Amino acid sequence: MPFSFMRGCSHHYGDRFTVRIGQRLGPIVFFSNPEALQVILTGDDSELFDAPGELNTAVEPLLGAQSLFGLSGDRHRRMRQLLMPSFHGERMRSYGQLIRDITEEVMSERVAGKAFLVRKSMQKISMRVILRAVFGLNDGRRYQQLERLLGTMLDKMSNPLSVSLLFFPMLRQNFGPLSPWGSFVHSRQQIDQLIYDEIAERRSHPDASQNDILTLLMSARDEAGEALTDLELRDELMTLLIAGHETTATALTWALYWIHKLPMVRKQLLNELQAFDGPLDPSVLFRLPYLNAVCCETLRIYPVGMLTFPRVTRSRLELMGSSLEPGTIVVGCIYLAHHREDVYPVPDEFRPERFLERRYSPFEYLPFGGGVRRCIGMAFAQFEMKLVISGILSRFELALADTRCVRSVRRGLTGGPSPFRMVVKESRQTKLVRTPS
Ligand code: HEM
Repeated sequence: MPFSFMRGCSHHYGDRFTVRIGQRLGPIVFFSNPEALQVILTGDDSELFDAPGELNTAVEPLLGAQSLFGLSGDRHRRMRQLLMPSFHGERMRSYGQLIRDITEEVMSERVAGKAFLVRKSMQKISMRVILRAVFGLNDGRRYQQLERLLGTMLDKMSNPLSVSLLFFPMLRQNFGPLSPWGSFVHSRQQIDQLIYDEIAERRSHPDASQNDILTLLMSARDEAGEALTDLELRDELMTLLIAGHETTATALTWALYWIHKLPMVRKQLLNELQAFDGPLDPSVLFRLPYLNAVCCETLRIYPVGMLTFPRVTRSRLELMGSSLEPGTIVVGCIYLAHHREDVYPVPDEFRPERFLERRYSPFEYLPFGGGVRRCIGMAFAQFEMKLVISGILSRFELALADTRCVRSVRRGLTGGPSPFRMVVKESRQTKLVRTPS
């Protein structure tokens, strides 16, 4: 749903509006008022609301039926419990050096003086982080094949035509590998085979010293002592990849844009980073106030996830003057919540200081949603953003290469900035940036 459409609806109808999308789903009620969001997101596993996975099945052909996105109730809870530890605490912090190394590796491939597409580089970074931290793959044939196949498939999925294949089952006609659906199915089979080969190899040669998320998931047991099946492992790996790759790449692309568009923001950030000079200590980095404010403001002004997943009312409910029948679909409108004049004065202005001046409640500021479906990659994504941005800023001097205005455009399942280029002017150790021959 485009931002302009949401703004139009909010302008005409206020805090709450109803949209009818086709016959199948019925009306969907959108809320952006913090009090309403609090009721919905603190009650989404109660007698008031449910957060059913059945409403997220559009992505099933890609992610599989066992994906966290499509699970509900106890099965959803069990899967979250198994996945959560990988994205928090010590385990998450252990990926700090890896993220820094990947940033360095990708940025060092940029040729000084030659403009590059920022999104492509950020996608490369976030894809490598996922392949190494989540899948535990480090170079080698399987890693390279997966990087190539997944990259091509996700590029295709960023096209609105390909996304319509997911939303309209009747378009899913396999007329061979050259037809849109046939090509999707073919790529998916190749990717699945590589993932299953990796799982089989890990099962036959277990290595407890590996600290990637696949290893952790393979050794995890639920309360009943059950391990995940190969099918569950495949579906969760694909889910983490799809949920974590494009979202983080978009957030990083926006952040680099704002930092270089607004010289004062860059200057303040560099001042803060220069004071933090010494060996990498991710926990100190994680708490740097201005870096944190820049990341928060990036996810406020154009939230990568514009909406929460749908929730459904379980009983009749009065909410903000609306009478909702049982079975009504409600969605939290993150973009509109982040653009309320009463909460964020001059909301269209990129101003990180607002996050230094006041604290926002989790229902005023919610780039990762909330409640039982709150993003499980939240801490990981924030950690990655801070490490990549600080890594780039402290090693490379970049500048925007285009003067064209960058706007938010639709990219497949999410939104993101229109393509723009930057140029490496200088690296702090020039030997790492190749110069044009
Ligand atoms: C800047 C980056 C990211 C943003 C803005 C973002 C945003 C979101 C949002 C808005 C939701 C829906 C929450 C709700 O309905 O209440 C969500 C769910 C989810 N996210 Fe993220 N996300 C990001 C990165 C990641 C990463 C890195 C991963 C994992 C590697 C991830 C995994 C997931 C999963 C698995 C869900 C579904 C949770 C469930 O159904 O229980 N996300 N994310």
